Amino acid sequence: MYKDFENVYEITHPLIKHKISILRNVDTGTNEFRKLVEEVAMLEAYEAFRDLPLKNVEVQTPIEKCYSPMIEGKKVAIVPILRAGLGMVNGITALIPTAKVGHVGLYRDPVTHEPHEYYCKLPESLDERLVAVLDPMIATGGSLVAALDYIKKNGGKHIKILSVLAAPEGLENISKAHPDVEIYVGTIDRGLNENAYIVPGLGDAGDRIFGTK
Ligand code: PRP
Ligand code: URA
Repeated sequence: MYKDFENVYEITHPLIKHKISILRNVDTGTNEFRKLVEEVAMLEAYEAFRDLPLKNVEVQTPIEKCYSPMIEGKKVAIVPILRAGLGMVNGITALIPTAKVGHVGLYRDPVTHEPHEYYCKLPESLDERLVAVLDPMIATGGSLVAALDYIKKNGGKHIKILSVLAAPEGLENISKAHPDVEIYVGTIDRGLNENAYIVPGLGDAGDRIFGTK
């Protein structure tokens, strides 16, 4: 839990903190940046999916039959917010290869910082799945609020956010608009600058993942 926000979980594991410090470094190149975002996503998923329901199934071992737990039901849908959320997908599918993947395309207007939607496609039976929304950056929170509005309109009920870095302003905005959604974040930074970038932050995550700057 973070301050008064019961739905926010800052993950304190040293491996995550260490990797985020390398992500912050302006000299970390695209190749390493991409790998680290995937690794942080995987470590966060380990924590965020702790409550996936299990069901005992019969298994024949080389020795005898037994009942052993496996994940129950329609399982998981992951929804990266384009572009930067794409950088987290492989880290999650490495752990949950059967996860369905939807996409929500949003970009922030550079002047107003308001999110604009340009592409959305979600898996079927969203209401029966745990929906993990992926975006490495929570700045004003506007992009995630818009993504959650869209996902809920399309049936999403049980939703968690996985993010690498957040500003308190963004966490507050998301928590007020969607108090039912759990937010797992690697680190919470000081705030936002005049361009609504996270400080100290790590810069533009999309550009650093895709090498576009
Ligand atoms: C970034 C980031 C988030 C958003 C966060 O995306 O990946 O989606 O900004 O800002 P907010 O919390 O103030 O909405 P951006 O719009 O830069 O698009 P990109 O991923 O395509 O670079
Ligand atoms: N989007 C980013 O990629 N970085 C920020 O600091 C804010 C929004």
